[in-house]
Amino acid sequence: MPIPKTTNMNNQASSLPTLIDPYGRTLDYLRLSVTDRCNFRCYYCMPEEGVEFVPRKELLTYEELTYLTGIFCEMGVRKVRITGGEPFVRKGIMEFLGQLSAISQLRKITVTSNGTLGEEKMDELLRLGITNINISLDSLDKDRFFEMTRRDKFEEVFDCIMALLQKGFEVKLNCVLAEEKNIQDILPFVELTKSYPLSVRFLEEMPFNGKGTFEPPKWNHNAIYAYIAEHYDRIEKLLDEKNSTSTNYMIKGYKGSFGIIPSYSRTFCGTCNRIRLSATGEMRTCLYGPPRANLRDILRAGADKQELKETIHNVVSQKEKDGFQAEKLQASKPKSSMTFLGG
Ligand code: GTP
Ligand code: 5AD
Ligand code: SF4
Repeated sequence: MPIPKTTNMNNQASSLPTLIDPYGRTLDYLRLSVTDRCNFRCYYCMPEEGVEFVPRKELLTYEELTYLTGIFCEMGVRKVRITGGEPFVRKGIMEFLGQLSAISQLRKITVTSNGTLGEEKMDELLRLGITNINISLDSLDKDRFFEMTRRDKFEEVFDCIMALLQKGFEVKLNCVLAEEKNIQDILPFVELTKSYPLSVRFLEEMPFNGKGTFEPPKWNHNAIYAYIAEHYDRIEKLLDEKNSTSTNYMIKGYKGSFGIIPSYSRTFCGTCNRIRLSATGEMRTCLYGPPRANLRDILRAGADKQELKETIHNVVSQKEKDGFQAEKLQASKPKSSMTFLGG
């Protein structure tokens, strides 16, 4: 068993604090969910009807979110991804992003959205220096899009992606693949990268659909790559960022790239740098694992900064080796919906 080392002074050059887990991984990426609500009903995320969203008072307020993010940043976090639910459905989100952008230690704020934000918000994002956005898009066909999201919003989302590109955003698309749903979209998505400088990432489906039943994906990362390789002979491997969830490629001569995210096979856990905070304050060290503390409750019980930092250190010292080990910790519990976990 490795020895937990949660504070660290070996970053001598800048002598900045870092959060290091028991396996030596530096955790500097916070995934912050701001809401469990969404205007879509993607089949792999939540049922069509009967989803019970949490009462508003149970959500962390923006003030609390900013305060907690500031603490994480004092402890070494440098990148924050805003997720949900759909972040842009929460009122006041742009003002909140403005507050976050004032945190001096933060180098990057990124957002994952379903692509229903308007141009006004895009312009405001640019003003705040937020230039990276990931959009969920599972099909390039209007009918299949409807079947997968249960919303007739394909044109709106596609126009949103085009507008983001035109405004100069760095855009990644997330496409969850499943047999009998959208396999016919794989090649059109790769072809989209011929004309547009975006990255399309194909994801394995994960068990967080809110249904309680799940079959391991037939379209795993090997199958996805093999399928694309059958159709293209000019695939070039790209250099992946250090903590990337995706393995990235491009078709020679195309403007964009494509990637594959083994989100179910979990082959990237060795370089995981992520911590997650759900909209209700649950702190997780793995998407597949249990919440390790509720920072909202601790904060609302009157804890000071030092106590919160101790809790965070304690949670980090329990980070699981990988998503399989994390999953075992709650094997008997039904899996949550992604919208409650925070994507
Ligand atoms: P970048 O920051 O641009 O690299 O994006 P990202 O891949 O971290 O973020 P995004 O929100 O676009 O997530 C893409 C997919 O990867 C989503 O389905 C996430 O749930 C999944 N993902 C992100 N982090 C993890 C993780 O720690 N474990 C697993 N299994 N999947 C993850
Ligand atoms: N399996 C795989 N990916 C999922 N996402 C949401 N639910 C699932 C699931 N069950 C993805 C969305 C979004 C990202 C944050 O998570 O497509 O892009
Ligand atoms: Fe909404 Fe994202 Fe869940 Fe789809 S996957 S229902 S867009 S939160």
